[in-house]
Amino acid sequence: MPFYHKVGDIPKLKHTTFYKQDGKSLYREELVSSKGFSGIYSNKYSHYMPTSVRKVTEINLHKNVDWHDAPHLYYHFFTDKLPAGGDFIQARHVVLENAHCTLATAKVTENSELFYRNSLSAEYIFVHHGSGELLSDYGRIPFSEGDQLIIPRTTTYQLKFDNFDNNKLLIIESDTAFEIPKHFRNEYGQMEEHAPYCERDFRPPEYMEPNMTKADFTVIVKAGQRYFEHIVPHHPFGVVGWDGYLYPYAFNIHNYHPKVGRIHLPPPVHLAFTTGSFIICNFVPRPYDFHKDSIPAPYFHSNIDSDEVLYYVKGDFMSRKGIQEGSITLHPGGMPHGPQPGRTEDSVGAKETNEWAVMIDTFGPLKPTTNVRDTLDKDYPQSWLEE
Ligand SMILES: [Fe+2]
Repeated sequence: MPFYHKVGDIPKLKHTTFYKQDGKSLYREELVSSKGFSGIYSNKYSHYMPTSVRKVTEINLHKNVDWHDAPHLYYHFFTDKLPAGGDFIQARHVVLENAHCTLATAKVTENSELFYRNSLSAEYIFVHHGSGELLSDYGRIPFSEGDQLIIPRTTTYQLKFDNFDNNKLLIIESDTAFEIPKHFRNEYGQMEEHAPYCERDFRPPEYMEPNMTKADFTVIVKAGQRYFEHIVPHHPFGVVGWDGYLYPYAFNIHNYHPKVGRIHLPPPVHLAFTTGSFIICNFVPRPYDFHKDSIPAPYFHSNIDSDEVLYYVKGDFMSRKGIQEGSITLHPGGMPHGPQPGRTEDSVGAKETNEWAVMIDTFGPLKPTTNVRDTLDKDYPQSWLEE
């Protein structure tokens, strides 16, 4: 929710008659609101009733990837080794999860006519590779490499890719909304001058011609680990207009403005988004700390009550060895972590870093899945031994 936004045709006054061109039939108004009626919301106006469902069938899309006896240790695994294949719904492979969030990666190899709605979770989609369009009843958002797509819970959407040479997504589901941190905004809601981004960096949906086709369409509805196929009697994108604060949007990691200190600044200076149970940080190229004796690599630290996940995008990450693009490391809470042997010394005197990464710090412990087990760097837990 970067700001108020309006797309297409809406009536002058909410909750009043809004007639179609025939002057007789009404557009259907739908309030999409959060936190009951107390959070942000939007009002959408559709050709058809948003509640129309012809048939509901539970389908089996859930992939059981529980790793019951996953040990409690440092993890490094290669998500690029997970199988590619499928559309934007089926290509997802869950790697880490807890009661509030799920992390998955996906290599999408086909477009789909299916629509998708996550009923119980908001979604964050990091576009590591690929380009295309996020289509929803709010409109069209073109996306490309580095985009972070924020999709509110219940949004019915599709991802249409331009080609299938190399598409790679990191997808994070959250049972609470992705928010812009409160301290980035002034009392009026405007982004403060010190925030790492401003309103101009956010891309809300663009107008898309409403689709009034009356025919059967399939919406895949996800509810936790269960999936349902809803057959609806009209095209899901029959919205003529909407306005409000609740909508999907894009923010590209290349537009994140990093902060630099005299001595090492902790990860909260890289903050991008918050939720009720984890935060997301953006690590981007920047000059290093400028004290003459500063150590740019991080000091060892124990975050006693959070798990730290890093998804490595590109460049050379200052504190890690053996990392590849698409690698994920998980450093569980309750265990100290820090640079591997030699990395601290190597960082002294360095002037800048070209690292790109997305960090996820969860407030509750994460459980690795069998997808982690199957793509594991088995030597990683011992990689701090100095002999
Ligand atoms: Fe850390």
